Amino acid sequence: MAEVHETNIRVQQVPRSRLPEVDLKNISFGTIFTDHMFQADSVEGSWTDLQLLPYGPVQFNPALMALHYGQAIFEGMKAFRTVDNEVVLFRPRANFERFNISAERMCMPVTTEEVFMEGLFRLIDMDRDWVPGFDNSSLYVRPFMYATDQFLGVRPSHTYRFAIICSPAGAYYSKPLRVKIEKHYTRSAKGGIGYAKAAANYGLSLLPTKLAQEAGFDQIIWTDAVNHEYVEEAGTANFMFVIDGTLVTPPVKDTILKGITRDSIVTLVRSWGMEVQEREVAVSELVEAMEKGRLQEAFAVGTAATVTHISEIGHEDRVYRLPAVEKRELAPRILETLNDIRYGRAEDPFGWMVKV
Ligand SMILES: Cc1ncc(COP(=O)(O)O)c(C=O)c1O
Repeated sequence: MAEVHETNIRVQQVPRSRLPEVDLKNISFGTIFTDHMFQADSVEGSWTDLQLLPYGPVQFNPALMALHYGQAIFEGMKAFRTVDNEVVLFRPRANFERFNISAERMCMPVTTEEVFMEGLFRLIDMDRDWVPGFDNSSLYVRPFMYATDQFLGVRPSHTYRFAIICSPAGAYYSKPLRVKIEKHYTRSAKGGIGYAKAAANYGLSLLPTKLAQEAGFDQIIWTDAVNHEYVEEAGTANFMFVIDGTLVTPPVKDTILKGITRDSIVTLVRSWGMEVQEREVAVSELVEAMEKGRLQEAFAVGTAATVTHISEIGHEDRVYRLPAVEKRELAPRILETLNDIRYGRAEDPFGWMVKV
């Protein structure tokens, strides 16, 4: 609890929780929200009006700047219920730091410790009964910020709303993914906003993803914006694979979101004494490895995706089938270890879990 100190947050509680009406074992991702939310407003760079209040609709004027010029950012993290019935957050400070990196890139105010961290801990504490207590479940936590000036000129807004909402969650993907190496559309360019968790990055991904799904795939492997020569990310997750027994993942840079799951896995696998290569990977190298049967595993890693196997990779007119999931060793070991740490079944040697 070292993360929290008391502050000036106004609290309005719901008269009656909606929790008894919810079957936590049967919910699809992102559809159910907890009783409360946190919000704060930034006016000319100062945070005011910190509140914990019932989850519900927000009123705004049609000229709201976020809707017109896209100053909107978010984060995604998870709280878990451990086997000892404690509620813990996975590396929340990393999300706080990345949120402020996104804010700076989008010309938005950074959040303070008091607004982001204390709002987060107080909200989760208030809605702690909503954190599910069975395997593969969690409370998905969504901090976000958007521009609130009512104005149609193009400039940074002077006012912003920061809020946090929470949604109980099971698995995001229920089966291994078929992915397509994208050679036409681009998610992110050098000098752009790919490293920020900006809403715009997700809006632009929808059409290419829909087209890939119409062609029979689940997700896209994004490639660089210059020549589509190097692989970058796996949909809304980072991309990892095993070639000749070595874990390989593209390096984080301004076109790639610096995933907290990715960083945790790199740390974990290195702690096992195994080599991890963070390096540029050409599409041609990946294709050659698939043709020669040297690509043993491929998987997507992220907060929502956790560790999701990739079963097939499409490139141009060919679809390569990867080794059967049952034959894979590294991704299952990573997932099991991460889950053991998150649910309190194993030691947390890296100090990732923070008690609420
Ligand atoms: C584009 C993108 N890349 C990577 C990730 C993985 O990041 P993290 O592990 O911090 O959730 C995400 C979010 O889940 C994402 O949206």
